[in-house]
Parts: sequence; C-alpha cells; structure tokens
Amino acid sequence: MIFTSLSPNTEPDDVILALKMRLSRASWPDESARTELERMMASHLIQGDLSPTTFAFDSGRTSLFAILSTLGLGSSDEVLIQSYTCVAVPEPILWVGARPVYVDCLQDLTMDPQDLERKISHNSKVLIIQHTFGLPAKIDELLAIAKKHNLFVIEDCAHTLGAEYRAQKVGTFGDASFFSFGRDKVLSSVFGGVLAVSDNAIAEKVRVIYNSFPEPTAAWVKQQLNHPLIFSVAKPLYSLLGLGKIIIEGSKRLKLFSKAVEDVELSGGRPSFAFKKMSPTLALLALNQFAKLERYNQHRQTLAKIYDEALAGFPVTIPPQESARSSIYLRYTLLIKNPSKLAVYLRKHGIMAGDWYTESIAPKRVDYKKIHYHEDVCPTAEQLSHQSINLPTTIQTSEEQARRIASLCKEYFTNER
Ligand SMILES: Cc1ncc(COP(=O)(O)O)c(C=O)c1O
Repeated sequence: MIFTSLSPNTEPDDVILALKMRLSRASWPDESARTELERMMASHLIQGDLSPTTFAFDSGRTSLFAILSTLGLGSSDEVLIQSYTCVAVPEPILWVGARPVYVDCLQDLTMDPQDLERKISHNSKVLIIQHTFGLPAKIDELLAIAKKHNLFVIEDCAHTLGAEYRAQKVGTFGDASFFSFGRDKVLSSVFGGVLAVSDNAIAEKVRVIYNSFPEPTAAWVKQQLNHPLIFSVAKPLYSLLGLGKIIIEGSKRLKLFSKAVEDVELSGGRPSFAFKKMSPTLALLALNQFAKLERYNQHRQTLAKIYDEALAGFPVTIPPQESARSSIYLRYTLLIKNPSKLAVYLRKHGIMAGDWYTESIAPKRVDYKKIHYHEDVCPTAEQLSHQSINLPTTIQTSEEQARRIASLCKEYFTNER
C-alpha cells in the first residue's frame, strides 16, 4: 500500500529514536533539545544579520494563540484568514476573544487579494497569510494591502517549512510567523510548533506567556511517542488480511495514540493538549527530522514534477508553477469533478489518496456557526474543497511509485473522457 498520510515522514531512524525514548524515560532529553530546535528555526529564518526570536510550543495552534494574545484584541476586533483551511486556524482567534473573518481563495488555494480588500473593515486588526499545501501565497500583493490598512501580519507556515518566495524563506515576510511539526506536516514530531517574532518588544510579551505555560505531562508525551511506532508496524500489514487497519483501529480505541483534532475543536473549543511548551522529547524527534528537511522537500518537488509531466493535457487543474513562488508540495492537489471516485479507483490499486481539504474549513463536521463561518462568503473555497484530492509526495513514496500513481490517474482520466 502507498499512503499519503499516517505518519508519512517517518523513517527507520525516527522509529528507533522514538522506540528508545518510549522504552526508557532516562533517555529523554532536558530542555536543551527544545532550545536547540528554537535555535535551528531562528537560523533557518535568518535575514541578513537579523534573526527572529523563536518559541517552541505544543502545536501551531498554541503558537498562533501566543502571538494573538500579545496584541490586545477585543471582541469587535477582526482577524482575517482564508477559507480553505483547517479549523486549527480560526480556533486561536476565538480563544483570544476576537472574530475570524473569512477571505476567499484563488484557484491556487491561497488567499485572494481582491477578496481581502473587500473583507477589510474598520475593525480589521490582523491578517494571517496561509501558504497552502507548500505553495507560498501572493505575498507582495497581500503585504501591500496589509500595509495600507495597518494590519499586523502573521504568516501561517504550517505547510511550508523551507518554501521560498522570490528566493526568500517564507516565515520572514510578516511581523510574526508560525510553523507546525504535526504528524502530517513538512517535518513531524506528532505534535509541536514554533513561533517566530521579529519585533523585540512583542517577543518579550510572548516570552511572558511562554514562561507561564507548563511542560506537557509524561503520559501525554508517551502517547505521542507511540504514534510513529504504531504506524510503522501497521502500515506494512495493511494489505495482509486487513491486519494493519485492525492495529490502527484497536490502538485508536485504546487511546494509544492521540487525535490530530479533538472533538471539542469542531466547535472552536480548546483541546486538552494546548497552552503548553513543546516537550523536549518531541523536540528531539523534530531535530532528528530537521537534518532531513532539504532531502524531504527535494523529494516532494521531484514527485510533483513526475505528476506535472504525466498529467499535463488532462482536464485536471494541477498546482501552478511560478518561478517566484517555489512550492515544496506538502500535498500535490488535483482539482477534479468527482474526487471520491478517483479515490476509490486509486484505493483499488493500493493507493490511499489524501483528503486535505474536502471541506472549506476542514475536517468534516466543523460547526460553522460556532466559528463564525458561512458557506456563502467564500464561493471559490466551497467549490474547490469539493474538487480536492491529494497525491502523495512523502519520502515513503518512491519515484517509481509516483510514476505508477501518475499513470493510474492518466488511465482514469482517459476512461472518464
Ligand atoms: C493551515 C494550517 N495552519 C495551522 C495549523 C495548526 O497546526 P497544528 O496542528 O500544529 O496546531 C494546521 C494544522 O492543523 C494547518 O493545516
């Protein structure tokens, strides 16, 4: 089986490291692992002689909460975000008591600058620029609008660690930026996030919040360490009498691994893991992956090229290639009429396609009213979310497998004509 999700960045050395730490608490690192991850991220984001102040939290969500908390937002203040996103983005806006306002997306799945202009009001205070699925947004246009309206800019780099815009790393354009080390992200430590802040006075305010957050509990950290272990056992057994699926379902029931999105979050509530520092143990997993960042992203780009070449000329919208915006293709997304039909076809051939984002505010079952969203306000995001299907670009998918996936898609589209 070939998977788009389910611990997609895990290699044998990550499994060995997780296993070692799962078996012996004596091998857990001290705080210096977290400090080292913060240092690595600061040097990744260095611009001339300026590097941001970085803070490692339990997740991207908590990172976003921390920066929003420093801005003194009230209940009438609006934070602009794009639709075609994850509920994890509006959540922290609600947690600080402000109001999310949704901007439609373009065909490339990033924010539409024209719709941003339309949605700005005298209550607008913050703009969050999301770089979706690895592709940098139209940063120059969005920044110009933000400047005109005096908005504080936060870049959402949860999908784009290492991507560049005009040869400059994303995460270095806004007043602040945040990254995620979630299970399906560019690099994974199951849970984790880093906030980068350029202004020293704001960084000092973040530090007060950061210092007030506790460490995650040992039991929770152990549960996260189980994640790569369970999936590294289950995935190879997936086609063997459904054994892999049984292992995954059984482990889920026994709560041996955590959910990526807790039920309470579907209506904008605060998950149990939030408002903590990043665990040094998980920071060590992230650091192990950091050394592979370039290789992973190059691999993603190589597989994307295979898909691009194979699918050119077919009636599927493939992600754009613009020299100024170099995507790292966290997900290779096709926009087609009936994505679930293609998913079933690929599944029959042993390929599990990805489902980011099949709802304009993912995952399924989000209570739109509670997060102040209404389908009418973002028609393009609505339409594209119902056309989305992702092909794998992970390190666990070889070039040969990508060629096979591409020719299966070609076969499917030819038969559909
Ligand atoms: C676009 C986007 N932004 C932010 C986040 C939040 O990251 P995390 O899962 O680390 O909280 C996610 C993922 O859930 C995401 O997909």
